[in-house]
Amino acid sequence: MNAQQKSIRVLLADRNAVLLAHYYVRPEIQDIADVLGDSLALAQAAARSEARVIVFAGVHFMAQSAAILCPDKTILLPRPDAGCPLADRADAASILAMRKKEPDAVFVTYINSTAEVKALSDICCTSSNAAKVLASLPDGKKVVMLPDGNLARHMESVTGRTVLPWKGCCPIHDALTPQQVRRLKARHPNAPFAAHPECRPDVLALADFVGSTSAIIGFAGKSDATTILIGTEVGVLTELQKRHPEKTFIPASPDLFCADMKKITLGDIEKSLTTLEPTVTVPDDVSRAARAALDRMLAIS
Ligand code: 13P
Repeated sequence: MNAQQKSIRVLLADRNAVLLAHYYVRPEIQDIADVLGDSLALAQAAARSEARVIVFAGVHFMAQSAAILCPDKTILLPRPDAGCPLADRADAASILAMRKKEPDAVFVTYINSTAEVKALSDICCTSSNAAKVLASLPDGKKVVMLPDGNLARHMESVTGRTVLPWKGCCPIHDALTPQQVRRLKARHPNAPFAAHPECRPDVLALADFVGSTSAIIGFAGKSDATTILIGTEVGVLTELQKRHPEKTFIPASPDLFCADMKKITLGDIEKSLTTLEPTVTVPDDVSRAARAALDRMLAIS
């Protein structure tokens, strides 16, 4: 641990705080996190945390979810400008319009969404539990899944139920093309390709495994392959390489890089713990309605 990492650990103890970090953040932050995980694991960790302060090394919707789940805690987002372009693809007005058009549908909202959008939804999901969430809904019920159209189409194909997709995507995952994957597969014919469901359907069609960041890490552990092609954000390679130093992990593209997640530095975290700012809060009425959708998800996860 370097001096700044040590100083952050001391501040965390002084402040009765925990540091939650997503796999996509910088390696030096992953190294000192209390909990390192995917979106679901981090929401679960926030919900059960007994600390007074939660520092989120992640993007805005993650800290917002923690604020919804823990209204009595201080939620720090060291870089409030770390956003999620996917979450920005749905707003309250467009959900209300879709609700009018599809009055009988269940609205399943990916956790990568704003609190206002969650508040207008029936249940949330993450890439880890989307299939479970869909299985929990009454048979034959029409489903609108938002804001990630790629995840919705993937879920339609794995569950066999009709899912109306939203016109949104993660621009980083969506930029990966089947041509790039085919070229890489040609160079590494024995390497399985593990991809995140935020990738395009024609990319997922080439995947040997599709799952959340945690599921991809699990797949890498179980696979006998010594080289694995990774179709998600490059930050996950830190944990993969740490757990399996004997294996080679190759990013499907160097462009699988989330600049928002990488904005957060050790310096930002240190400053945030010193000043206890910037905080993320959600208005009570929005928070209550969004919490109902998150709680329904957590109850079946
Ligand atoms: P998971 O954390 O569910 O793998 O999803 C990745 C993501 O979208 C992070 O913003």
